[in-house]
Amino acid sequence: MNEHVDPKGIKSPAHIREESEDVGRNRSANPTMGDIINRRYSRRGFLGGSLAVAAIGATVSPMALLAAREAEAATPSSFDFTEVEAGVDETHHVAEGYDADVLLRWGDKVFADSPEFDPQNQTAEKQARQFGYNNDYIGFIPIEGADDRGILVVNHEYTNAELMFPNFATVEDGEVKLGEYTKELVDIEIAAHGGTIIEIRKVDGKWQPALDSRYNRRITGETETSLSGPVAGHDRVKTNADPSGTKVFGTLNNCAGGLTPWGTYLLAEENFHGYFGGELPGGHRETENYQRIGVPGGWYEWAAFHDRFDISKEPNEANRFGWIVEVDPMDPNAVPKKRTALGRFKHEGCETVVNGDGRVVGYSGDDERFDYVYKFVTAGTFNPDDRAANADLLDDGTLHVARFDEDGTVEWMPLVHGEGPLTAENGFESQADVLIETRRAADLLGATKMDRPEDVQPNPTTGKVYVMLTNNTKRTEDDLNAANPRAENAFGHIIEITETDGDFASTRSTWEVLVKCGDPSVAEVGATFSPATSENGWFGMPDNAAVDADGRLWISTDGNSRDKTGRTDGLWALETEGEARGTSKLFFRVPVGAEMCGPYFTPDAETLFLAVQHPGEEGAATFEDPATRWPDFDETLPVRPSVVVVTRQGGGKIATS
Ligand code: FEO
Ligand code: CA
Ligand code: CA
Repeated sequence: MNEHVDPKGIKSPAHIREESEDVGRNRSANPTMGDIINRRYSRRGFLGGSLAVAAIGATVSPMALLAAREAEAATPSSFDFTEVEAGVDETHHVAEGYDADVLLRWGDKVFADSPEFDPQNQTAEKQARQFGYNNDYIGFIPIEGADDRGILVVNHEYTNAELMFPNFATVEDGEVKLGEYTKELVDIEIAAHGGTIIEIRKVDGKWQPALDSRYNRRITGETETSLSGPVAGHDRVKTNADPSGTKVFGTLNNCAGGLTPWGTYLLAEENFHGYFGGELPGGHRETENYQRIGVPGGWYEWAAFHDRFDISKEPNEANRFGWIVEVDPMDPNAVPKKRTALGRFKHEGCETVVNGDGRVVGYSGDDERFDYVYKFVTAGTFNPDDRAANADLLDDGTLHVARFDEDGTVEWMPLVHGEGPLTAENGFESQADVLIETRRAADLLGATKMDRPEDVQPNPTTGKVYVMLTNNTKRTEDDLNAANPRAENAFGHIIEITETDGDFASTRSTWEVLVKCGDPSVAEVGATFSPATSENGWFGMPDNAAVDADGRLWISTDGNSRDKTGRTDGLWALETEGEARGTSKLFFRVPVGAEMCGPYFTPDAETLFLAVQHPGEEGAATFEDPATRWPDFDETLPVRPSVVVVTRQGGGKIATS
C-alpha cells in the first residue's frame, strides 16, 4: 500500500493509514552522508552517457527540447510493443495487439461449491470459500511441466472496508467515515486476507480457473500455521491459545512473496502491526520491540472483537506475525510454516535464487521509511532431484542486512547471535531474540536507512539484483546517504546490485543507482531515465518487479495518480543492459485509484499475470455509490480487485526484441 492522493482533497481511510506509515520508526543514529552525496551524485548517480536532461522548473524548457532531440538520437528500447499512453480513467489499458482478460475477482468462486458473490449478504464463511481482497503477489507453478495447466498462487494483502461493505462508509466534511464495526464485519475482513491457491487451465486459448481441482485452497487470517526455525517454541511467542509457541492462527498483510526453486509459495507478512490494538502492561519486555515496529498500529478494529489482537490481553501475539510463510501448494492440507530464520520485520516479499554452489538466497525489503534491505542464505543446498529434501531448507541459514557504502560497495552483514553487538549485553540472549527483533539488531550493525524497500528481485541470468525503493517524503537534506540521494524523495528509485562474480551468497558486492524515478522534464525531480524514454515511459513509485525468460526487467508501481504524476499505476518494461539501459516503456495501466502488483510470467513467457489492487481507492469511494469512484460505473470493468491475464493476440512471447 502507498500514498493515495485524492483528487478532491478528501481523506479516505487508506490515506489515513498511509499517514501513520509515513512516520518511520527507525530512531537509530546510523551515519548520514549528506556531505558525500554531491560528490556521489555527480560521479555515479547519472546513467553514464545517457543523462535525461532535466528542464528548469515545471514547464517545458529549452533544455527539455534538447532532451527531446537527444531522445531521437538515443538507442531505443528493444521491447517490441507499442507503448500505452499514460493517463487516468476508469478502466485498464494494455499495449495494442494484446488481450487483457480478468481471470479472478474478489468474491469469485475458488471451489465448485463456493457461494455466489453477493456483497449485500456477505459472511465470513462465504468469504473463506471465495477469492480474497486486494490481490498482490502472483506466482504460477506449471503442473507436471504442462504449458496449459498450472497452479496460481495469489496473496490477499489487506481490506478496504469503505469499498467492500455496502452502506458502511459515508463522506462527511470531506472525509470518508466508516460506520460501526460488528464482529461479523471484522470476521469477513479476516477471511478476505491471506492467500488463494487455485489451479488454472487453458481452454480454447484462454486461461480459466479450474474450480474442481484438488489443489484449490483459501488461506485466511484464521488458518492454522506453524512457527518453525530458531524462534519456534520460544517464550516470547507463547500465548494463552498456544502455550507451545509453535501454532499461530493465520497469516496477515501478505503483500509480495515468491516461489522457491522447489515449487513452494512464500507469503510475506508486511504491515502486520496495523491489526493490533490495546496497550502493553507497564514495563513489559516487548515495549521497545513493539515501538520499533509500530505495534499497535490501530488501523483495524479487530482488537475489539478478538482478544489476541489486543496487546494488553495477549502481549506476545504480535511477535507471531512479520515472518515469511512457506506453503506447499501441491498439498492442500499442508500446514503453512512461518520460517523464522528469515527474520521478523515488514517483509514486502521474498524472491529466491539458486546460487552457483547450490545454496538458496532469498531477498527481502523491510517496507518502511528508513528501514533496511536483507538477504537470507541457506546453510544447506538445493536438491533438484528430491523435492522433499528441500522441505526445511529455509529453517537453517544466515540472515544478512545491507550497508550501502558511498564507494559503491555493499556489505551484507550477518545477523548472528554472539557476533559483534548482538549479545546478551544488548538484550539478545539467543538467535531467537535476534530474529524477533531483527530491526534493532540491524540498527546496531549500522545498516543503511533506505527509502522504503519494496520488492528485491534477483536476475539469475545476469547475477544482478534490483531493489525497488518506492519513496520517502520524510528524508531531509540532513539524512541523505549515497544509496538514498534525494531529499523528499516522492518518486523513489531503483538500485542495481551486482553480486561479486555472480555469487548471490557474497557478503561484499557493488551497487549503483539504475534509475531515479519521476518526471524527467521537471528539474526539481532529478529523474534519470534515459533520453529515449517517452513522456509515457517514465514512472514514479516502483513497487514490484519481475524478470522475464529473457532476463529483462518489468516494474509495477504503487502511488501514481492524476495529481501526483498525471497517470495511474501500471507496468513498465525497463532496459537494464547495453546502450538502451535506463529506457522505460509503458505496457499496461490500471483503473483510477488502483495499484499494480504481481507481475509474473509463465515459463514460456507467453502469459503475463497482473494484479489490480483496490480500484477506486482514490477519492471519496464507497460501495453504495460507485459513481464516486469514476464516471460511468460498469461492473464489466475491473472494479473489484482482480487478477488480469495478458496474452499476445495470435500467440507468442509477451515481448520479443
Ligand atoms: Fe504492501 Fe510495501 O507494499
Ligand atoms: Ca508492495
Ligand atoms: Ca518480484
